[in-house]
Amino acid sequence: MAESVLKLTGINKYFGSNHVIHDVNLDIRKGDFVTFLGPSGCGKTTLLRMVAGFYEPDEGQILLNGRNIEKVPPYDRNTAMVFQEYALFPTMTVFENVSYGLRVKKTAEAEVQQRVQQALELMQLIGMETRYPNQLSGGQQQRVAVARALVMQPDVLLLDEPLSNLDAKLRETVRVELREIQQKMQLTAIYVTHDQSEALSMSDMIVVMRGGFIHQIGNPQEIYFQPKTAFVADFIGTTNLLEVTPAGNAVRYMDTLIPLASDIAIDESAGRYRLSVRPESLRVTKEAPQTGEVSIPAVIKSKMFLGEKVRYFLADSSDKEWIVDAFDPGRHLLDGQVNITFHPEKAWLIQGNDPDEV
Ligand SMILES: Nc1ncnc2c1ncn2[C@@H]1O[C@H](COP(=O)(O)OP(=O)(O)OP(=O)(O)O)[C@@H](O)[C@H]1O
Ligand SMILES: [Mg+2]
Repeated sequence: MAESVLKLTGINKYFGSNHVIHDVNLDIRKGDFVTFLGPSGCGKTTLLRMVAGFYEPDEGQILLNGRNIEKVPPYDRNTAMVFQEYALFPTMTVFENVSYGLRVKKTAEAEVQQRVQQALELMQLIGMETRYPNQLSGGQQQRVAVARALVMQPDVLLLDEPLSNLDAKLRETVRVELREIQQKMQLTAIYVTHDQSEALSMSDMIVVMRGGFIHQIGNPQEIYFQPKTAFVADFIGTTNLLEVTPAGNAVRYMDTLIPLASDIAIDESAGRYRLSVRPESLRVTKEAPQTGEVSIPAVIKSKMFLGEKVRYFLADSSDKEWIVDAFDPGRHLLDGQVNITFHPEKAWLIQGNDPDEV
């Protein structure tokens, strides 16, 4: 197992009476690409700024390479941050912006030239060396900000929504390149985003946050297939959440007994139980269920044709709304009374309330 580079323990942060970070514990290993994912205002930037040294935690400890960095100012931490609002030096050219940190560190001229050139190439900024920030588009400024951080080869690279101003196509290209550079240079990176597909496709580890609480830490598959909270299940993709009651090795939804996958253990004291089933794991059919399938009668309320799939919106006899995706639907879509069927091992049980749920 790779060594720990960054360790946060019991971190709490208040702005006045506003408790914005709740008891965060996190261990990041060398070479990992970690994403902070969560909706606007959940505390992603605040957490990143505490690692960089721009905010101090009110409680808790941050270790960087085993060293407590509480008293270490940002410029001595060997972290480099790309700010959400870029924060380029307006009176410096692109080249001067990118080389700034290396000059402060009194790096030899030949090495400055070589590292800046490499960073500019990676960020597709060749030819723009002598321009000033106000002569660049928002997306170009953002890439200069990334180049300025990359060039430092920091112990931890901190990126706060660094690609938000790029058009979809360029964002995808830079995303892939950033991930390649990070892997090649074995950089440890924390990447902030509220885009779940970005998080799923880039990360070794995803930290899902809401309202200052960490809901779950896990790799992309764990986050998608084994969400710990109802929020995670719903925020990462789309899901159907059913309120169920435990019944031995199964759960009951209305009259239907749904057996649980063998790796799910019911915690009798959890109090609240919700079953998450993804739209792509469900089928809509006029026919009887296949052997082993669970079947729930429902009525199709509406449907959305999306080319490669149809998304059906249905209601069961308790008026609960269901979403079912049918891929490769053909030209004849279904209507009216149907059965929603699924294999029970595709269902995932969420136990207890979410941390920020009352
Ligand atoms: N300097 C500050 N003073 C007071 N409150 C702040 C300050 N910075 C952030 N907050 C509050 O702390 C909470 C977390 O903010 P933060 O900027 O960390 O969210 P975020 O997850 O980065 O959101 P976004 O995705 O919109 O950038 C918010 O409620 C915000 O209003
Ligand atoms: Mg932010």
